[in-house]
Amino acid sequence: MKKIRIGVVGVSRGSTYVKVFHRNERSEITAICDPNDINREGAQREIGLEDSQCYTDFDEFLKADIDAVAVVTPIPFHEEQVVKALEAGKDVFSEVTMANTIEGCQRIVETVKRTGRKYMMAENYIYLDFIQQWKKFVDDGRIGRIHYAEAEYVHDIRDRLFDCGTRKNESFWRTYRPPIHYCSHCLGPLMFLIGPDDYVVKATGWGNKNTIVPDLWPSTIDMQVALFETKQGRIIKILRSQVTPRTPHIVTYNIYGTGGSLETGRTPGYDTVGMRYFEKTDKEMVPMNCNGTKLDAPIDIKFGGHGTSDYTGAQAFLDYVEFGKEPFTTAKKAAELTLPGIIAHEAAVQGHVWLDVPHFE
Ligand SMILES: NC(=O)c1ccc[n+]([C@@H]2O[C@H](COP(=O)([O-])OP(=O)(O)OC[C@H]3O[C@@H](n4cnc5c(N)ncnc54)[C@H](O)[C@@H]3O)[C@@H](O)[C@H]2O)c1
Repeated sequence: MKKIRIGVVGVSRGSTYVKVFHRNERSEITAICDPNDINREGAQREIGLEDSQCYTDFDEFLKADIDAVAVVTPIPFHEEQVVKALEAGKDVFSEVTMANTIEGCQRIVETVKRTGRKYMMAENYIYLDFIQQWKKFVDDGRIGRIHYAEAEYVHDIRDRLFDCGTRKNESFWRTYRPPIHYCSHCLGPLMFLIGPDDYVVKATGWGNKNTIVPDLWPSTIDMQVALFETKQGRIIKILRSQVTPRTPHIVTYNIYGTGGSLETGRTPGYDTVGMRYFEKTDKEMVPMNCNGTKLDAPIDIKFGGHGTSDYTGAQAFLDYVEFGKEPFTTAKKAAELTLPGIIAHEAAVQGHVWLDVPHFE
């Protein structure tokens, strides 16, 4: 069987996908690209690439022997690199979020349509094992129609927003990313559970204060809360912070339906004990394992991170490229999971007004 040849651009977080695609029997890494010598040489050594397979220039990298590109660079580069890769005839697996502007998302959606290439946003949290298990409960009708959902992602990454010693920020791309812009780890799994046909149409946001880090960088806003209204009338609440002191970080999900509810636990890590209540069969809330890690997975599956979701998400991309099996996060859905965060921040800045969220068909 011919392996899918993958090139990875950006090999900090991208070094995970170098390993995941390298060790997968269906794919191979044939090129990497990163101007940072330490990161590039580290990834090169990790899987034994030739010097000729390692690039510092993105346009040269696109000429390498690759079928697909994994874009794992800082978000401000996504629009340009994704569009160039699609136009060069490559399928694209792009890290979250899709882009940092409305126009960037629109351009990617249009380029996918025009080129006919495949695009998948690598929203790995959808592939946390318990989210996949919850989806079966939802599809079996165990919790009825979801009418409300919420998620929280609080992760103190002050050291990735600015230099905590000098308080300078020149080499920190996340400095200008408002917390709610990075909402797809929350919104992605919730919309996956709700189903493919619904999407956010209106957004409002709260949170425009910097007291923990008293500088006016949007990334250091203490907390942001977004409320979303969906096309089919659902309400979604998301809480985000990148500076609030809380160690370790936490990611939680709650969904409420007309026939029951599901919620994760609040203990550290991706494997927690949550609760479920199915009105038809349970007398009251029942403790339930919410494992981000697929327990019966072969050992190889653990080469990624975030439970086993990095590996499983990469598998979904290979299924898309090889068999045309559409993942949840095609370009249209990636825009639907990215734009609400961009609009919620704008709504917070304008004094928590409600704003329409653009939608691209
Ligand atoms: N899904 C997840 O759980 C998860 C976790 C972490 C990061 N991310 C995403 O991964 C992406 C990268 O984040 P990171 O933490 O690795 O950032 P980072 O700043 O740690 O590293 C970025 C890497 O990209 C390289 N780079 C920068 N500009 C480049 C360019 N123009 N061409 C090629 N390489 C370039 C840098 O040299 C560096 O090695 C972002 O989109 C981020 O949102 C996702």
